[in-house]
Amino acid sequence: MWDCPQYAAPMVLIGILTLFFFLFDALWSLLQVCRAVLAPLFIPNEETSLTKKYGPWALITGSTDGIGRAYAFELAKRGLSIVLVSRNEEKLKKTAREIEMKFSVKTKTIAADFSQGSEAIEIVKKEVGKLPIDILVNNVGKNYEYPMYLTEVPEKDLVDIVNINVLTVTLMCRCFIDDMKKRGRGAIVNSYIKSFTAALRFEYRRYGVTVQHLAPMFVDTKMNAFSKRLQRSKFYIPNAEEYARYAVATLGKLDESTGYWTHGIQCFFISMVPVWIRTYIGAHMNLTLRKDYFRENHIPNDRLNRKEKVC
Ligand SMILES: NC(=O)c1ccc[n+]([C@@H]2O[C@H](COP(=O)([O-])OP(=O)(O)OC[C@H]3O[C@@H](n4cnc5c(N)ncnc54)[C@H](OP(=O)(O)O)[C@@H]3O)[C@@H](O)[C@H]2O)c1
Ligand SMILES: *[C@@H]1O[C@H](CO)[C@@H](O)[C@H](O)[C@H]1NC(C)=O
Repeated sequence: MWDCPQYAAPMVLIGILTLFFFLFDALWSLLQVCRAVLAPLFIPNEETSLTKKYGPWALITGSTDGIGRAYAFELAKRGLSIVLVSRNEEKLKKTAREIEMKFSVKTKTIAADFSQGSEAIEIVKKEVGKLPIDILVNNVGKNYEYPMYLTEVPEKDLVDIVNINVLTVTLMCRCFIDDMKKRGRGAIVNSYIKSFTAALRFEYRRYGVTVQHLAPMFVDTKMNAFSKRLQRSKFYIPNAEEYARYAVATLGKLDESTGYWTHGIQCFFISMVPVWIRTYIGAHMNLTLRKDYFRENHIPNDRLNRKEKVC
């Protein structure tokens, strides 16, 4: 037996607590998933439809392509009427027609460019008018055209990225959340901004408003058009329809989700790896994708010929 010095007990306690906090997030997510799967079996009333739980209208930004479009179809399938928002009038009308033909729901279209910041929100506000928005899906997002170094990204693109991914999401929440609070029901789904979404959830949960953070890994959409590697729909890279089918099923059940089961597995393993290793692997992956872009577009790039130090 080892000699047990007096300070061993507190050390063990600290060790256990550290492990506990380390595993707490993972376990909490797991419990939520179990609850979502098991609750309908034991408490049949638990399974209310989205229209009953939140109301009849959903607004989805960036809903004429990729994940947003597929998400709109999934909600329409569940009987929700849809407000579609994106830039292109023609694509909007076409998508609205397709939804109305396939499901017996109403649609409304709003053309707005979210890179314009608050101007776009003014347009949305005016067009929505008195229509109650019960589910708000802040889906529109912008990324670099392909993996670039910061100084290579045109300044205009960076401004657009902040406007689209951060500013307009925040303003859209601000615009619609008070009415949800008054009605005592509603849901918001945000992509990209995690901490803001967590704070909003904490503040509005007591008023019956669901606020979900949905953060997919790679989904095969035109956002990833720069690399053929990301075009083949495989086990880990679903297409938008497959992704949305799972993602909508998590609404009202999971506070935070990748939205797709194989992404959940990836996320679990990634979260166990120390941040510096994650960053290293991420950088390596980005460099590979960047090379794909140059190869597929026949762009010679001197910088790639020498072994580059990635920071
Ligand atoms: N695909 C992935 O692997 C992946 C991974 C993680 C997160 N995400 C996030 O998921 C969301 C959807 O991505 P996605 O891959 O489905 O995108 P996508 O296929 O490129 O679709 C983008 C949609 O947004 C609209 N849009 C683009 N720019 C806009 C603007 N400035 N103002 C208004 N609407 C605009 C587009 O229509 P118009 O061009 O007609 O305006 C289109 O309907 C994004 O927030 C993205 O960051 C995607
Ligand atoms: C890799 O690229 C993604 C954008 O596609 C970015 O969010 C991420 O921070 C990059 N990772 C590294 C380590 O450069």
